Amino acid sequence: MVKKAIQVNYWEFHPLTAARWDDFEILFGPNGACAGCWCAWFLMTNREYTEAKKEGHKELVRTLVHSGVEPGIIAYADGVPAGWVALAPRERYKRLATSKQLGAVDDKPVWVISCFFIHRDYRRQGLMEKLLAAAVQYARGLGVKTLEAFPLDVEGKMSSIQMYTGKSSVFYKLGFNEVARRNYRPILRLEL
Ligand SMILES: CC(C)(COP(=O)(O)OP(=O)(O)OC[C@H]1O[C@@H](n2cnc3c(N)ncnc32)[C@H](O)[C@@H]1OP(=O)(O)O)[C@@H](O)C(=O)NCCC(=O)NCCS
Repeated sequence: MVKKAIQVNYWEFHPLTAARWDDFEILFGPNGACAGCWCAWFLMTNREYTEAKKEGHKELVRTLVHSGVEPGIIAYADGVPAGWVALAPRERYKRLATSKQLGAVDDKPVWVISCFFIHRDYRRQGLMEKLLAAAVQYARGLGVKTLEAFPLDVEGKMSSIQMYTGKSSVFYKLGFNEVARRNYRPILRLEL
């Protein structure tokens, strides 16, 4: 049976701040989405991530947010937390520094759009694209010059969990261009 999409009258997009931490917890749920990730995956090395476990992942992000860092943007559907996009200067993502596939293409300073998480009740109604547009607008407001992302080329249906870096066609639609391709993975950029 196909699930009926929830009708949304208005969307809002706000950076995650300490005042919105409870909304982040509501969105990610008791298990922190995706087996307790809490969107800490790219912030940690593999060893740190394994050792920290889900409570450590949550604590890392909570501490970051409470120190004044805005690690991403929450989408609200009629006031309800419904989706998330993470973005940060590349250097903040420790995991990328040692990644063969996702390591820096050059030494240009870039911000990386690293992850999406849409609550299952709000999937398949264009929220990923709305969040990407919100991330671009937010980065522009901060004076970021170059945005980078490494979404997947998706043909047909794929596991939603696997698609956490997004779908490349949505990025192309918003003006991103391919600057490199590592194995099957496109590295895209948008100059702001
Ligand atoms: C992948 C995900 C971000 C897509 O978000 P969404 O709001 O449902 O996507 P949209 O409705 O904006 O669709 C964007 C595009 O992706 C496609 N798409 C979405 N889900 C898809 C799926 N499971 N398989 C194939 N294509 C998919 C849509 O058809 C659309 O393609 P089009 O632009 O060519 O028409 C969402 O399913 C999600 O959050 N998954 C969980 C990711 C996760 O676990 N993150 C946490 C990691 S710790």
